[in-house]
Amino acid sequence: MQVRVDTPGGAYPIHIAAGRLDELAHSIPDDATAVALVTNDTVSALYGTRARAALAASGKPVHVIELPDGEGHKTWETLNRIFDALLVAQLDRKAVLVALGGGVVGDVCGFAAACYMRGVRFVQAPTTLLAQVDSSVGGKTAINHPLGKNMIGAFYQPLAVEIDTDVLATLPPREVSAGLAEVIKYGMIADAPFFDWCEAHAQALRALDPEAVRHAIRRSCEIKARVVSRDERDVGLRAILNFGHTFGHAIESGLGYGQWLHGEAVGCGMVMAAELSVRACGLDAAVVERIRSLVAAIGCPVRAPDLGVDRWLDLMRVDKKVEGRVIRYVLLPALGRADVQGVDDDLVRPLLASGRLIEGR
Ligand code: NAD
Ligand code: GLY
Repeated sequence: MQVRVDTPGGAYPIHIAAGRLDELAHSIPDDATAVALVTNDTVSALYGTRARAALAASGKPVHVIELPDGEGHKTWETLNRIFDALLVAQLDRKAVLVALGGGVVGDVCGFAAACYMRGVRFVQAPTTLLAQVDSSVGGKTAINHPLGKNMIGAFYQPLAVEIDTDVLATLPPREVSAGLAEVIKYGMIADAPFFDWCEAHAQALRALDPEAVRHAIRRSCEIKARVVSRDERDVGLRAILNFGHTFGHAIESGLGYGQWLHGEAVGCGMVMAAELSVRACGLDAAVVERIRSLVAAIGCPVRAPDLGVDRWLDLMRVDKKVEGRVIRYVLLPALGRADVQGVDDDLVRPLLASGRLIEGR
């Protein structure tokens, strides 16, 4: 199964199949001089040997670069560790980096590829559901800065995205639910029939039914590919991919990163953004109830922590979409359609104090 991405910065295939990990050599171009397999200790223990053997079938020397696991390592130090390893191994501009792991490994490895010798080719081999349906596609690469998440980075497209659906079998259930939040997001913002399908297959998806998971990944990648092909640099349409993220980011930073997984916060944030859509752009209230039920069905929280109304607004004002202190939200005028709109704080305040959305209110 293949989906194409076509952006000004590069056109490439997304291959989706069980066992694709063993085919990684196909993504290494003939003129590559060497391969650097960039992964983390958790993923390496599970799939490092297989991935290395698969890449060795390309006939190129394979160097493994193992990073420490965790969002806390998405830093300059980790990036430098990759550069050190590439330089010590004397890899040249025709080397190819392969990112084997979740979104953290993909984002750091992609940024390393964008910088090393002013740019070398790289392949995304995402191993979390979130990375397979979102972060590996579209060329956003980054590390965190102490003052902000993903603040230092580049748009840099991979040569290919290689998705092995089998590797999801070892993913903790919470990570599966977090990835499913991004899957159902695509139905909400761009494809109402896909939302209906997700409703009908929520339990199959949570249980990682192979056919359901392949369909969900393919449809998610198709929608993301379409959006980033029209707006690679995130100057307009691409913002719709951030549905639920304004509220979600506030939950993540308000509680401290790592308390809730990103996808969990986005799941809850989508319920909040849907409620706001009723007030700000006339979304049918019945759709909000469907969204709330589906977010709960995939195993994500539907009520947010009580951060205090003013603090919520302060946290949401750090969002990249803010213009002149007005918070701009991705809203749904209808299921399957999304718009970005500035909303007055007075319309948002009641939601942030509502017992339906906020725990303990
Ligand atoms: P992650 O990379 O931290 O992975 C989650 C955990 O799962 C880690 O402990 C990881 O080692 C482990 N893991 C990975 N694959 C596994 C497997 N098959 N079996 C068992 N364990 C496995 O988190 P994530 O949710 O994949 O990605 C989150 C990151 O992605 C964040 O840094 C976020 O900023 C970034 N992101 C980037 C984009 C983008 O467009 N570039 C989009 C969304 C998110
Ligand atoms: N995950 C949002 C984007 O790729 O733009």
